[in-house]
Amino acid sequence: MTNHSAYIAGLGFYVPDRVLTNRELEKMVETSDEWIRTRTGISERRIAEKGVGTSELASRAALAALKQAGVSPNDVDLIIAATTTPDMPLPSCACFIQQKIGAKNAAAFDLAAACAGFVYALVTAEQFIRAGVYKNILVIGADVISPYIDWTERSTCILFGDGAGAALLKPASGKSGILSSVLGSDGQYADLLTIPCGGSRRPATHGSVAENGHTLKMSGSEVFKLAVRGMSEAVIEALSRAKVKKSDVACFIPHQANQRIIDAVADRLELPAEKIFVNLQKYGNTSAASCAIALCEAVEQGKIKKGDKVVLATFGSGLVWGALVMEW
Ligand code: UT7
Repeated sequence: MTNHSAYIAGLGFYVPDRVLTNRELEKMVETSDEWIRTRTGISERRIAEKGVGTSELASRAALAALKQAGVSPNDVDLIIAATTTPDMPLPSCACFIQQKIGAKNAAAFDLAAACAGFVYALVTAEQFIRAGVYKNILVIGADVISPYIDWTERSTCILFGDGAGAALLKPASGKSGILSSVLGSDGQYADLLTIPCGGSRRPATHGSVAENGHTLKMSGSEVFKLAVRGMSEAVIEALSRAKVKKSDVACFIPHQANQRIIDAVADRLELPAEKIFVNLQKYGNTSAASCAIALCEAVEQGKIKKGDKVVLATFGSGLVWGALVMEW
């Protein structure tokens, strides 16, 4: 039994080429670029081509993370794919990723924690590393959510986009790595954000299609309030567990769902705008990929340097939430 923390040795992300702008949405539903930007902060999002599954985006992100870490697919011990939009109900998305990247020596499974999936998967991977079971773990947050969007429903279709982000985790030798984490969920709010049909309770039938039961339904303002509370409290608890002061946080990577949620959380945490990384204007809410893509871009843009304290916070359907403190 070892007790190594885990650190991120490589990151990568991938988004589809197709850009869907607010102006295009104006032609599809009764909305305006101005409303979307002021109420959410989003200007555009990426949409996967028809027939492209989550494993395709995830594999590209995974290969980029492996390249950055200098790890060959053969040396990956475990693939954890955080997704709620797997290519198909069986087999797991993680197995399709394994097939695509050729990680033939890995174990592989999916983890369903909606938008909080990347943080849940990082924390899960960290446990295997702390226990000394695995040395190279590929953690991927990926969703192709666009096929589940009702493109006639203006309060949801403006929010989401497709994408994937990946991290290669290894045992940490020095101080750097995951310092603390908090995961939470409250199933009493399970009905606030759902895709009601297509599962075992209500499988696909002509009726389920006719009633539009395979698209995402959300009580937006309730989710909004719970997101602010859930993320703020999780970050405060994670910082306390890591014995890190709010003022010592160099970069805060929140779930990229709505600029107003991010502002409200930042306000509660008393974090100045320059410490908060936001890229939702370009991608919207990419669900499990959101924090992963944001972390990747924050590093690429030099917003995170060695030794920095970095905080991730996520929130999603379940309701579930998670926060994680790392030293980079
Ligand atoms: O990963 C977690 C996933 N979910 C979230 O993070 C979502 C959290 N919720 C939100 O981001 C916000 O609640 C929304 C962006 C979904 C909605 O914003 P809101 O400020 O909470 O608006 P609202 O739902 O209270 O609606 C206000 C008005 C309504 O019109 P009436 O009833 O006041 O006449 C809506 O019909 O805004 C209307 N509205 C729109 N108007 C123009 C809703 N969507 C749109 C739209 N364009 N796209």
